[in-house]
Amino acid sequence: MISHDVVIIGSGLAGMRAALEAADKGADVAIVAKSYPVRAHSVEAQGGIAASLARVEEDNWEDHMFDTVKGADYLADQDAVETLVKQAPEAIIELENLGTLFSRLEDGKINQRPFGGHSNVRSCFTSDKTGHALEHSLFEQVMKAGVDVYDEWFVTRLIVENGTCKGIVAYDMQKGEIEALKAKSIIFCTGGYGRVYGITSNDLQNNGDGISMAMQAGVPLEDMEFVQFHPTGLYPRGTLITEGARGEGGHLLNDEGERFAKKYAPDMMELAPRDILARAIETEIREGRGIDGGDYVHLDLTHLGEEKIKERLPLIRELAIDSAGVDPIEGPIPVRPTAHYSMGGIYIDNNCSTPVDGLFAAGECSCVSVHGANRLGTNSLLECVIFGRKAGETAAEYAKNASMPQLSSKEYIEEERDKMENLMNGEGGEEINELEEELQNTMRDKVYIFRNESDLKSALDKIIEIKERFENVQIKDQSMTFNTAYTGAMELESLINVGWAITKNALARKESRGSHYRTDYDERNDEDWLKHSLTRFENGELNIDYENVTITKYEPKKREY
Ligand code: FUM
Repeated sequence: MISHDVVIIGSGLAGMRAALEAADKGADVAIVAKSYPVRAHSVEAQGGIAASLARVEEDNWEDHMFDTVKGADYLADQDAVETLVKQAPEAIIELENLGTLFSRLEDGKINQRPFGGHSNVRSCFTSDKTGHALEHSLFEQVMKAGVDVYDEWFVTRLIVENGTCKGIVAYDMQKGEIEALKAKSIIFCTGGYGRVYGITSNDLQNNGDGISMAMQAGVPLEDMEFVQFHPTGLYPRGTLITEGARGEGGHLLNDEGERFAKKYAPDMMELAPRDILARAIETEIREGRGIDGGDYVHLDLTHLGEEKIKERLPLIRELAIDSAGVDPIEGPIPVRPTAHYSMGGIYIDNNCSTPVDGLFAAGECSCVSVHGANRLGTNSLLECVIFGRKAGETAAEYAKNASMPQLSSKEYIEEERDKMENLMNGEGGEEINELEEELQNTMRDKVYIFRNESDLKSALDKIIEIKERFENVQIKDQSMTFNTAYTGAMELESLINVGWAITKNALARKESRGSHYRTDYDERNDEDWLKHSLTRFENGELNIDYENVTITKYEPKKREY
């Protein structure tokens, strides 16, 4: 059986950074990725990565920390936030030394742009292709460090025996074989679950596979009710139109041509945090002030001028021309909120350890809780880099003191083959696409930006029904290689589990905080709800309990922008 000291599942920014660190600490490291590594969703990150570098104006880590905690609606763990923001400036210089080409000021220093919820100019960027630049430079370093890469391996199961993580089962899509792989340490860097909503900025790969696998293996999930809707998804499909466009000076306009942000966030206007602006846009649309009464508003960049748009925002110009037929130099871009980011995820401590021995996690699939109830833009790439590095270090250290697990893989491989055959030979007649659409519509209609008890209850019933019908899914593709019907079924199973956890937690949390807004409990309630939710899958059920938030510097205050 293939074995390594440290195996990282996922090749996005957190996975790459973890791999580099573990290799640097002397471990024998491998990455398992379900696509070619540099096709991970991190390449789609556009607007930048935050650090109080103070290249454009005064800044310091305390301001960055306060903005992050306030943006999180005080649900972030402040010790973790402090680690994140204090290490940020040095991490940017490290990334530069590793080969990332950031956009520059006239004097040659790294440029920075304003971003939502940040009180100072803090986002380091590479035009509007920051994730692409970071991902490629880290991949070069990962190759140089001799990390093995198993690409187009679709991981289907995490093997945990007696409280210790021992390995994974995966479908090698190219060879058409089911494989098992064992490791002393496994790090999940599997990304988010945006595809649980039909309109999303997320890649087709983002189905919450890692979160679902961890949940099924008994690992607790934290704060699953908090889903971020990015205010400006390109209408109608939801492709990301970076907040950097507003950072460069773009305006949001309703059908009356009004900069409506002033009604919702008079001080920060279009640079208010995402939860506030997503609700603002949704309110404008619901109250009939969408463009021509429709379900979108305008993002106007025309006043920025051709030169700035071409230099700073070339990708979103291309996207707007190709997908909406609008050149932002000449006219406004149609936008509406799009499912973008999962604040919650696999429960980890500040060293990126899960409660299962030998299992670690970092990046969007995890919750160390630096984002609390609402993440500020540009803090996610930063989290990937800072906590990816920490996960690599912790996992390599753990592997140094552990022996290679004893694992008999035969039974696991047979179980997975049986599952595949049952899907191929099933006669239940349920179609993957239909179930996925029903799930996405349910999430969109009832577990969206505005939530209430009756919608959430009916969503939960529907998800349980979809979960039962999944047992009767049948796939028509009988081939062993690149069987995307099979991987699609596995992804659907993950989406159902994730949707279940989001909805159950959203129903339980009877307050409004950050991205979780309940019209029937429309105030934040610190007395009862200043706490993290922890969800465990036990005996076929999801059980929720709660844990205190770590508050070190900033007591909760009313959040105004
Ligand atoms: O708008 C954006 O460029 C997204 C950035 C982020 O989610 O951090």
